[in-house]
Amino acid sequence: MHIHDTIAGLRAALKVSHGGTPRIVLVPTMGNLHEGHIALMRQAREHGDTVVATIFVNRLQFRPGEDFEKYPRTFQADCDKLSAAGVDHLFAPDEAEMYPRPQGFHVVPPAELDGTLDGEFRPGHFKGVATVVMKLFQIAQPQVALFGKKDYQQLMIIRNMVADLNLPIAIVGGETVRAEDGLALSSRNGYLSATERAEAPRLNRLLREIVAALRTGNRDHAGLENKAVAGLASAGWQPDYVAIRAQVDLQRPTKDDAPLVVLAAARLGSTRLIDNIEA
Ligand code: PAF
Repeated sequence: MHIHDTIAGLRAALKVSHGGTPRIVLVPTMGNLHEGHIALMRQAREHGDTVVATIFVNRLQFRPGEDFEKYPRTFQADCDKLSAAGVDHLFAPDEAEMYPRPQGFHVVPPAELDGTLDGEFRPGHFKGVATVVMKLFQIAQPQVALFGKKDYQQLMIIRNMVADLNLPIAIVGGETVRAEDGLALSSRNGYLSATERAEAPRLNRLLREIVAALRTGNRDHAGLENKAVAGLASAGWQPDYVAIRAQVDLQRPTKDDAPLVVLAAARLGSTRLIDNIEA
């Protein structure tokens, strides 16, 4: 695996690989890689001949008081995992390379996608994500890019960005990888104490209960959401939301037969966890 910390270095290397016409597949990450990321890397290989992973902890998408400073940075272990997964190039710039001056132009997601769910609780987060993803797209110029479905709203926003701005990039979503007890793998799971880790699968359990209820024909969405929020709160969580939404636009479903997704975000101690299941 070739490791690049400059934009010029990555671009020069991509130009010469595969006879100058590589089909480039990009997998952006913030590092601290787990099996969910590695599954994306393997999936990436099916979509092209040159797999490029990126590791960059993007300050723009963290709000003041969030975990930017303490976000786990595990570069050497990440490199070993990416190499083993057969990644061809790793782009791992520092902040001066990505933001040599304060970022002036931004990609601003539309209010209907950004003003709800995580966007409501983390204002500005998706503007930071969309902006850095656009920069990474310009830097690597991939034909395909992969993102995990665990960050469902992020995936939707990137899909819409690509469509609205006519970017010639196919966006592929990767399934969420889970621990045996159902907890979605996340770099932030590393913040959990042993007691919190034992409690954490409740989030996924409650989502699965909602999906089961929906499948039996229960249409009382507000009732199901409120019950799950109360279940989290009484187990010591601080829930941000539990929401039953239409897959197509993440709004409250207006049609009975709309494919649904159930999403949740809640804090356990000081760790904020998110999860979702397509119903
Ligand atoms: O999902 C992530 O890890 C990040 O939001 C991303 C897409 C790499 C942008 O910084």
